[in-house]
Amino acid sequence: MYSLNSLSVDTSPETLGRTNDGYYNAADNGIDFTKFLEVTTRSIPIPIIAPINTSRTLDERSLSEIISSGLASPRAPRTLESVKSSECLEALLSPSIRSSGGTPHDHPSFEPHPMIADAWEALRRSLVYFRAKPVGTIAAMDPTEESLNYNQVFVRDFVPSALAFLMNGEPEIVKNFLLKTLRLQSIEKRIDCFTLGEGVMPASFKVLHDPVRKTDTMIADFGESAIGRVAPVDSGFWWIILLRAYTKSTGDHSLADMPDCQRGMRLILTLCLSDGFDTFPTLLCADGCCMTDRRMGIYGYPIEIQSLFFMALRSAKSLLKPEGEGRDLLERIDKRLHALSFHMRAYFWLDHTQLNNIYRYKTEEYSHTAVNKFNVIPDSIPDWVFDFMPIKGGYFIGNVSPARMDFRWFAIGNCMAILSSLATPEQASAIMDLFEARWEELVGDMPLKVSYPALEGHEWRIVTGCDPKNTRWSYHNAGSWPVLLWMLTAACIKTGRPQIARRAIEQVEKRLSKDGWPEYYDGKLGRYIGKQARKFQTWSIAGYLVAKMMLEDPSHLGMIGLEEDKKMMKPGLTRSASWTA
Ligand code: GLC
Repeated sequence: MYSLNSLSVDTSPETLGRTNDGYYNAADNGIDFTKFLEVTTRSIPIPIIAPINTSRTLDERSLSEIISSGLASPRAPRTLESVKSSECLEALLSPSIRSSGGTPHDHPSFEPHPMIADAWEALRRSLVYFRAKPVGTIAAMDPTEESLNYNQVFVRDFVPSALAFLMNGEPEIVKNFLLKTLRLQSIEKRIDCFTLGEGVMPASFKVLHDPVRKTDTMIADFGESAIGRVAPVDSGFWWIILLRAYTKSTGDHSLADMPDCQRGMRLILTLCLSDGFDTFPTLLCADGCCMTDRRMGIYGYPIEIQSLFFMALRSAKSLLKPEGEGRDLLERIDKRLHALSFHMRAYFWLDHTQLNNIYRYKTEEYSHTAVNKFNVIPDSIPDWVFDFMPIKGGYFIGNVSPARMDFRWFAIGNCMAILSSLATPEQASAIMDLFEARWEELVGDMPLKVSYPALEGHEWRIVTGCDPKNTRWSYHNAGSWPVLLWMLTAACIKTGRPQIARRAIEQVEKRLSKDGWPEYYDGKLGRYIGKQARKFQTWSIAGYLVAKMMLEDPSHLGMIGLEEDKKMMKPGLTRSASWTA
C-alpha cells in the first residue's frame, strides 16, 4: 500500500511542472481513499461508418484498391502502392492528408452495421472523468458481476479505446490519459518494504470522486493490489506506443516534446536498457507481467513483451530528442534494436524447416560453433507442434531460454511483431499463412485465441498452480479474446491480406453484440461465452470499432504500424518453403 506521503509526491505540481494550458492545478492535490470511483455517462453523437462489402474475396487486392473502392470512406483516395509496400507507412496519417476527409461521422452516406452504433454508445458509457475531463475508459461495465478491479482504467485496455478515439478525430482523451498516467509514474511505488523502479507505469488506475467536497482523486495500481502482485512490464511500452500514435495521428509534436514526456520515456527505457548479467538482448520477465496477468508459464522471455519492447524502442526513437540524456539513450536504443531483431528473427522463429532442425539437434554442444545454442533437448518438443506446423507458414514461439523453448503460439506477440516490423516481410507473410492454414485452431468461431494450445491435466496443475480460471481452453489458457481482432486486422492490412480480417470480422458480427460484448470465449473453437467473462468489456467493444475503422480506411495503420528498417540484420539461418513461396 502507498503511504499518503508517497501519494502526495504525485500531486505536487512542482514534480512534473505545469503545461501551458494549466492542465495540472493545485486542486489536483485532493486525496480521499474513502470514496469510490464515479463514472460519468455522457451521450455523444454516434459516428457512421461505411459497411463492408463482403461480396468479393480480396485475396489479390492491394491497399490502393481497397482505399479507392467503396470499401473505404469517401475521403480522397491516397496513392498507396500496396500494403506490402511498407514505405507508405511513414507517409500515412500525416495530418494534412487526414484533414481532407474528416472523421466517419462526417459521412452518413453509408448504411452502417447496427453493431457500430451499439459499440460507440457502449464505449462512451465506459468513459472515466477526472475533474470533468475524460481520462480513460473503464475495463468493463458489467452490472451483473462483482467489479473487482474491472472498474479501473487499465493502461493496456485503454489502447484500443485510444485508437478508436484517434481514428474518430477525438484526440483529447488520449492526451489527457497520457498526461495523467505520466503523473502516476512519478509516484513513489512501494510493495511492503520494497521500492519499485522509477520508470514503472501503472497497470491501472481509478478515480475517486467525493461528491460532497467535490474533489476527484486518482489512485494507481502498480501490481501491489493485482492478483499475483506482478508489476506490468507492458504498460510503459504501451504508453510510448500510444504517445507515438497520438503524435502520428494529430501531427501535434508538442506533447511528446514536453520535458515531462521526454523524461517519462527516458525513465521507462532506462529500466529495460540498463546493463546486467544478461547474455541475450531480450527482456527477462516474471510470469503474469503483461496481458496474461496470471501464472501461465510465460516467465523468462515472453514473446508478447519482446515484441512490445521492440515496438516501444522504435517508437521512442522517433520521439526522443537527440539532446542531453536523450542522445545517449538513442545510441543504446539503436544497439539494442539491432541485437534484439537478430536474436528474435533467428532464435524465436519456427517454421517447418526450423522445427525439423531442432528435432535433429545434437545436445551437449560446446563452443561458438554450436548449432544447438541453448541446449534444447529434442525430446522436449511437444507432440502437438508436429501436427500443427504447416509446410507453408511459421510463427515466433512463446519463449526461448536455456534448454527451454515454449512452442506455444501467442497472438499479441505475433501480431505486434508484424506491426513493429520485428518480423521480416517474409516472416510476416508466413505468420499470415499460418492463420489461413490453422484457421479453426487460431480463429475458430470467435476470433482470436490468445494462445495455442491449452495446457491440460498435470501440466495445467504445475504451470498454472491449479488456477480455476485458467482451465483448458478458457481465459488466458487458450481462451478466445475478441479484443485481439484489432491487432489481427492491422496485421492483415500491413501484410496485404485484408480478406483474412474481413472473414474474422464477419464471424464477430454474428454474435459479439448479441452476447453482450464478452471479455472472452471458451472452448477449442471459442464457441461459448467465457466461464467468468465480464460482459460489456470495453476492449472487446473498442477492438471491434478499431478493426472496422481500419478496414474502412487503411491509412489508419500509420499510427500503429512501423515500416521495415532495412538496416536491421536478417539472420541467414534456415529458410523454409514458406520463406521463398
Ligand atoms: C484481465 C486481463 C488483463 C486485463 C484486465 C482488465 O486481468 O488478463 O489483461 O488488463 O483483465 O480487463
